Amino acid sequence: MTSSEPRSNREPAQHPPGTSASASGIDGTATHRPKKILVVFYSRGGRTRSVARQLADMLGADVEELVAAGKRTGRLGMLRCVIEALAEIRPRISGIRHEPSAYDIVVVGSPVWAARVSSPVRTYLCRYASAMPRVALFCTMGSSGAEQCLGEMGALLDPHAEVIERDRFPAVALDDGDFWSETRGRRKLRKFADAVAAIPVA
Ligand SMILES: Cc1cc2nc3c(=O)[nH]c(=O)nc-3n(C[C@H](O)[C@H](O)[C@H](O)COP(=O)(O)O)c2cc1C
Repeated sequence: MTSSEPRSNREPAQHPPGTSASASGIDGTATHRPKKILVVFYSRGGRTRSVARQLADMLGADVEELVAAGKRTGRLGMLRCVIEALAEIRPRISGIRHEPSAYDIVVVGSPVWAARVSSPVRTYLCRYASAMPRVALFCTMGSSGAEQCLGEMGALLDPHAEVIERDRFPAVALDDGDFWSETRGRRKLRKFADAVAAIPVA
């Protein structure tokens, strides 16, 4: 399980959509402009979407759901997902509404497919790697493959990085246990959201 340690467990303040406070003065007033955060994800079955929405709520972030070409439902659709993941295929993605370079931090989420990143997220990372100054990653899965999936996502962002530095790409994986126990999943997500909110931006 990959998880970033937060700097604080306090509940973050509410901010307008797409923003999160970056710093406060001694009297509690904001001294810097709020951070602009985007949560980008692909979801085949709804789990990653649910996590992405919770995260976006916690962070006051905008949300981008990736839409990929090709049918992915049913047995054949599942087979297609496995083949695309293992063969490192990049399907066409459409309807991108948010320009990632307009954000301070982009949080990218994917389901784990055959211990790999999902193919639509692969396409997105390949297309926008250089447009995202600061990135955090999450994945959802049944029980295993998070390290490989998150490692692959990191490698797509920076092919020269041999090891993902935790401080560079805060990351979290949510498994079946986190979905069965709402408290456990929520607590893990809160820690991750705090770590994302603490990423320093210029
Ligand atoms: C094609 C495919 C491959 C999968 N491979 C894995 C895997 O290697 N390890 C795992 O723990 N879960 C695996 N799963 C389960 C999903 O990662 C998990 O259910 C995820 O939360 C689904 O997210 P979604 O509902 O947003 O699509 C796989 C699911 C699919 C459809």
